[in-house]
Amino acid sequence: MNEKRSTAGTQRANISRQRRFWNERAQSWDHGAGDNPGLVKVVERVIAEAAPSAGMTVIDIGCGSGQLALRVAPLVDRVIGVDISVAMIDLFLKNARAAGITNVEGVAMALEHLEIEESSIDIVISNYVLHHLRDRDKQEAVMRAAKWLKPGGRLVVGDMMFGRGGDARDREIISSKVALMIKKGPAGWWRIAKNASRYLLRFQERPVSTGTWVEMFKTAGLHEVVAIPVVNEASVVRGTKLRGDLNVITTDHA
Ligand SMILES: C[S@@+](CC[C@H](N)C(=O)[O-])C[C@H]1O[C@@H](n2cnc3c(N)ncnc32)[C@H](O)[C@@H]1O
Repeated sequence: MNEKRSTAGTQRANISRQRRFWNERAQSWDHGAGDNPGLVKVVERVIAEAAPSAGMTVIDIGCGSGQLALRVAPLVDRVIGVDISVAMIDLFLKNARAAGITNVEGVAMALEHLEIEESSIDIVISNYVLHHLRDRDKQEAVMRAAKWLKPGGRLVVGDMMFGRGGDARDREIISSKVALMIKKGPAGWWRIAKNASRYLLRFQERPVSTGTWVEMFKTAGLHEVVAIPVVNEASVVRGTKLRGDLNVITTDHA
């Protein structure tokens, strides 16, 4: 592989790091995520914006143990959950069995390597995943997801979305996170140091602003792109693939 090294590291190094990190944390994520009210709100908003309905095929990228995919499955025909961590996919399928859900499939693979037939999917959704990708891989992921969509299909991404202090919303989010950690005393101060290195060095968490997400969706050719702030740090961005019939240019020869 000829990929140039940058401060963000290579794609291959990031994939190995994410796989290791999430294989170790799959159980604790599975136990905690369902009880996190902020995360539940984001999941609900992703579903509302995606508007799933009977007969649809949906991909959830970075499905984890199924917080989003298992809520969508009863509403549609088929859900394909993709996750880099085999431990997460095992939990996803176990949780599906426990809930009696039979229309889901699990694929243990980095989304960067996922091959899906063009124009074959009604909805691509993702929650709290894409900030783990390097910035250039985020754009690439959006471009590929847009290709997988059928005309009229939707891409909906929920994630932590803020920049590094470039605008008022960024500064508000960063200062409220710092204030929350300061309140926790020495344990919180340690978290400030840890999180500052995670965000500033961008080796684990690499959030970008809602404006950047909107631009990435537009660059991928998606339309009706909207960003919806949901809770403090998290927003949802939705875009729609143009329907073929809207591309027809009519000329008036009268
Ligand atoms: C914060 S968890 C979110 C899980 C789930 N979407 C939810 O809402 O609870 C992030 C998930 O992204 C997955 N992930 C991280 N990088 C990935 C990649 N490159 N390809 C596929 N999955 C990835 C992790 O394994 C993990 O399950």
